[in-house]
Amino acid sequence: MAMCRVFAAVFLVYIWVLASLCSAGDPYVFYNFEVSYITASPLGEPQQVIAVNGKFPGPIVNVTTNDNVVINVRNKLDEHLLLHWSGIQQRRSSWQDGLPGTNCPIPPKWNWTYQFQVKDQVGSFFYFPSLNMQRSSGGFGSFIINNRAVIPIPFDTPHGDIVITIGDWYKRNHTALRRALDAGRDLGMPDGVLINGKGPYQYNTTYGKTYRVRVHNVGVSTSLNFRIQNHNMLLAESEGSYTVQQNYTSLDIHVGQSYSFLVTMDQNASSDYYIVASARMVNDTTWRRVTGVGILHYTNSKGKASGPLPAAPQDEFDKTFSMNQARSIRWNVSASGARPNPQGSFRYGSINVTEVYVLKNKPPVQINGKKRATLSGISFINPATPIRLADQFKVKGVYKLDFPNNPLTGPPKLETSVINGTYRGFMEVILQNNETRMQSYHLSGYAVFVVGKLYISFMSGDHSVVNFC
Ligand SMILES: *[C@@H]1O[C@H](CO)[C@@H](O)[C@H](O)[C@H]1NC(C)=O
Ligand SMILES: *[C@@H]1O[C@H](CO)[C@@H](O)[C@H](O)[C@H]1NC(C)=O
Ligand SMILES: *[C@@H]1O[C@H](CO)[C@@H](O)[C@H](O)[C@H]1NC(C)=O
Ligand SMILES: *[C@@H]1O[C@H](CO)[C@@H](O)[C@H](O)[C@H]1NC(C)=O
Ligand SMILES: *[C@@H]1O[C@H](CO)[C@@H](O)[C@H](O)[C@H]1NC(C)=O
Ligand SMILES: *[C@@H]1O[C@H](CO)[C@@H](O)[C@H](O)[C@H]1NC(C)=O
Ligand SMILES: *[C@@H]1O[C@H](CO)[C@@H](O)[C@H](O)[C@H]1NC(C)=O
Ligand SMILES: *[C@@H]1O[C@H](CO)[C@@H](O)[C@H](O)[C@H]1NC(C)=O
Ligand SMILES: *[C@@H]1O[C@H](CO)[C@@H](O)[C@H](O)[C@H]1NC(C)=O
Ligand SMILES: *[C@@H]1O[C@H](CO)[C@@H](O)[C@H](O)[C@H]1NC(C)=O
Ligand SMILES: *[C@@H]1O[C@H](CO)[C@@H](O)[C@H](O)[C@H]1NC(C)=O
Repeated sequence: MAMCRVFAAVFLVYIWVLASLCSAGDPYVFYNFEVSYITASPLGEPQQVIAVNGKFPGPIVNVTTNDNVVINVRNKLDEHLLLHWSGIQQRRSSWQDGLPGTNCPIPPKWNWTYQFQVKDQVGSFFYFPSLNMQRSSGGFGSFIINNRAVIPIPFDTPHGDIVITIGDWYKRNHTALRRALDAGRDLGMPDGVLINGKGPYQYNTTYGKTYRVRVHNVGVSTSLNFRIQNHNMLLAESEGSYTVQQNYTSLDIHVGQSYSFLVTMDQNASSDYYIVASARMVNDTTWRRVTGVGILHYTNSKGKASGPLPAAPQDEFDKTFSMNQARSIRWNVSASGARPNPQGSFRYGSINVTEVYVLKNKPPVQINGKKRATLSGISFINPATPIRLADQFKVKGVYKLDFPNNPLTGPPKLETSVINGTYRGFMEVILQNNETRMQSYHLSGYAVFVVGKLYISFMSGDHSVVNFC
């Protein structure tokens, strides 16, 4: 996980799922990924970025529900590599999730073939390298799972599919950023926000047509507000769940989140239009230069985009706008999914909760002379033997199943503590942010149903990882 070093707190919810690889009968799709450094100048100055097959961002994985996906990954970096398939539920092979703890990293010059089935999911996801802050140098790309023809989607087939990655970006590469963190320094303000690895981004469209615009925040730590000048964005899907369709003029997209909007090209094409991704809840004066700007170009456009950039919500000191906006997003529970409620029909109000965990993050502390993040008073030590492999080969003593239900009150400690969950149970996880800045959590590979938000908000980013295997 890119951020393990910064917010070194990784926990695994331990749920036994016996692995059987892929289902025979369902189609196979094959990809070859070569991960290497290339030189690019996303902010005007040449720098080394991580490319997949020479592309930055990497190629789109575009597959269909139930496909068996085979991705041969060749590591041409000078460091270990793990690719994480974010949001893809590895029901049958959690060790292929590609986060620390799941499998051994791919050493330089080696290759490894991921093979998993994208079962019962339809939607917008993305992949990224999960070790050593590599994601801050690239290596990410969109991962789309389409519906099978027999499964309807709750909107008309769009005229086209547009993928947009947005994210904060530093001119320093991941090794330099890592060095800063290891020395106990903050990363500081990013140098820019990239839209599809660069700016300005161009996409030609035709008047009156509706496009599905899939937006992923692939950044490291910056929450971004996304908007398209003069265009309403009808929110339709988020990470595999169809939403109640509502128009937004802008939406806060936190680190790790993916959304699909239906955008109708209904303007008069007197000009091109700006696409903007700007940092949220920061000092607008200081951060203005760190704004991602792209261009939406109609094929019949008569001129360049002009005028001021569409304004972001002004609420540097008011977190309620963002929170209320997130609350306004509702799941359309009657829309068909890949296969709704795969484990049966639940009445969410009457679920018997098996266990409750309060996960509380606090500002980083010094432990043994190093600045470390903690969750519930524990700073996670990633063991040399990946946890899932320890299970597979019955290696004892690699980790402790002792993660506390409530935050520890004593001095923070270093530990390889893992949550002891119940197979097929329902866990209630309460995330408490005891810092003054936004914190993102990544609940990897698991279907999470948000039941409430208070001043603390649930966000699927990845400063800390809770990996429900
Ligand atoms: C990262 O940047 C440092 C300079 O800060 C440079 O020495 C190093 O070669 C770069 N590493 C990669 C992998 O590009
Ligand atoms: C490495 O790649 C070669 C082909 O390029 C393939 O035959 C082999 O199975 C791959 N090895 C692994 C461990 O994925
Ligand atoms: C939910 O999806 C269904 C099926 O497409 C649709 O008929 C219904 O209007 C949607 N409900 C809302 C509130 O968007
Ligand atoms: C993905 O593939 C489908 C056809 O299977 C195509 O209609 C769609 O445009 C593709 N999406 C992207 C983003 O390439
Ligand atoms: C977009 O439109 C411009 C100008 O009309 C044209 O030069 C360019 O080739 C088009 N690009 C694509 C991808 O269609
Ligand atoms: C969303 O906005 C578009 C105009 O851009 C409008 O045609 C459409 O009816 C709106 N949809 C909803 C559900 O409000
Ligand atoms: C096009 O729309 C813009 C505002 O959306 C308006 O200012 C302009 O006058 C319109 N141009 C034409 C030719 O209708
Ligand atoms: C924002 O930053 C500017 C420049 O650093 C500073 O002058 C201003 O006081 C700051 N505004 C707030 C509200 O902190
Ligand atoms: C919850 O537990 C009660 C008592 O054991 C049982 O009657 C009920 O059916 C359970 N509810 C669900 C949704 O499993
Ligand atoms: C994990 O939880 C189960 C069920 O509550 C319990 O039987 C088991 O002893 C626990 N394991 C450890 C190591 O605490
Ligand atoms: C953190 O927790 C302490 C003790 O519960 C509380 O006094 C403080 O206000 C909290 N700070 C934040 C930023 O939530």
